[in-house]
Amino acid sequence: MTAVAGKRIVLGVSGGIAAYKAVEVCRLLVDDGAHVIPVLTKGATRFVGRTTFDALASEPVRMSLFDDDDPIPHTTLGQTADCIVVAPATARVIGAYAAGISSDLLTATLIATRAPVVVCPAMHTEMWEHPAVAHNIATLAARGVHVVGPESGRLAGGDEGAGRLSPPAEIVAAVARVLAPDRSAQDMAGPDRSAGDMAGPDRSAQDMAGLSVVVTAGGTREPIDPVRYIGNRSSGKQGYAFAEEAAGRGADVTVVTTVDRPAPPGATVVRVDTAEEMAAATTRAAAAADLVVMAAAVADFRPVEAADAKLKKRDGVPEIRLEPTPDILATLGAAKPEGQILVGFAAETCDVAANAATKLRGKGADYIVANDVTADNAGFVHDTNEVLVLACDGRIHPIGLRSKRQVAHAVLNLVVADRNADDRVDSQEKQ
Ligand code: PMT
Repeated sequence: MTAVAGKRIVLGVSGGIAAYKAVEVCRLLVDDGAHVIPVLTKGATRFVGRTTFDALASEPVRMSLFDDDDPIPHTTLGQTADCIVVAPATARVIGAYAAGISSDLLTATLIATRAPVVVCPAMHTEMWEHPAVAHNIATLAARGVHVVGPESGRLAGGDEGAGRLSPPAEIVAAVARVLAPDRSAQDMAGPDRSAGDMAGPDRSAQDMAGLSVVVTAGGTREPIDPVRYIGNRSSGKQGYAFAEEAAGRGADVTVVTTVDRPAPPGATVVRVDTAEEMAAATTRAAAAADLVVMAAAVADFRPVEAADAKLKKRDGVPEIRLEPTPDILATLGAAKPEGQILVGFAAETCDVAANAATKLRGKGADYIVANDVTADNAGFVHDTNEVLVLACDGRIHPIGLRSKRQVAHAVLNLVVADRNADDRVDSQEKQ
């Protein structure tokens, strides 16, 4: 039984293409024993029929402030709800809620409640990144509204980018955590819906507020000449998933990246190309960081020198002499400030655990996230990943196949829980 069982949950659905996924949110909540009251905006019904919700939810769909037997449906809904979840939440609904404008039943209910509210944005990347939307989201988060997602991925019309509604199971898991009596325990052992998930993303927790986090992302490029380089297949997706997750949980995030992807609102982005540049930027940013996550695929070797002009075929096959690059993780591990947590990765193609354990010891990291990059749907470029997390005290945590965002969530849960436990021991020792 999850924390949603027996709870009155108002499910707000606003008008975006992701409205069809709200049907699954409704079904999962009802399956988990929640009493679900769907409140649809007029726009929502352009994307999904109210009959579907009528059939699946615990009460018929509500849409109007005036057509109900109840003369004040918004206050009745707001006062009796244990939780309100809006999925998808469009830019309009987010803006109205942030501004306190109650132009329809959903926005009026949001303003007429003291129950916890979970907002799950979904929209096109341009809209999600618009300063007005970023500002409205920050306003809601500052007021204690729980924001879940959005994820990056394929959007309507075939575009790719940030703005996709979080998966329904993750939304329901987040609602369960919001309603759970002991939220920190739930965060570690949350509902298992997708292949042994430790928990779905819950940016509501804000359990990383006040922490300074540096994340490296993407593959470095070591120039051979002005047009060619030695590179690798890293897309930066896993690193950005960490940056988004940490930012969503309240951390102050710096992303040192080789890829041009939109970073989470508020994050500092340092764009680099080579291992040398990444080393300089990461070392600088890490000096005052509480947590460093080294998800980037950094070249181990670079050409000793890059040609000034494009190498010509007519001059024959070039001989390229290589030299080692700086090992950023090892450098950080050797000079780690007190209390800083260093999370390295290991991209492996065989003997994954053994090779990762060697890296954990050799590089002075606190954790190594070991990635078998030959596994199906895992490693480079995929939206999903499957990893083993090795901790320096010998614990090994397998994290089964799931979205890269969920991997980031599970790894950060572990790191935050360990950090909190260490803090408790420290304060007991001082007493
Ligand atoms: O970016 P995606 O497409 O989403 O793919 C994700 C990923 C596969 C790149 C990611 O999950 C991953 O495994 N990243 C680490 C890749 C890597 O360089 O692994 P490695 O085993 O070669 O390096 C071990 C660690 O040392 C890594 O944390 C790496 O960032 C660091 N390193 C490596 C070399 C170097 N010169 N300096 C370093 O700091």
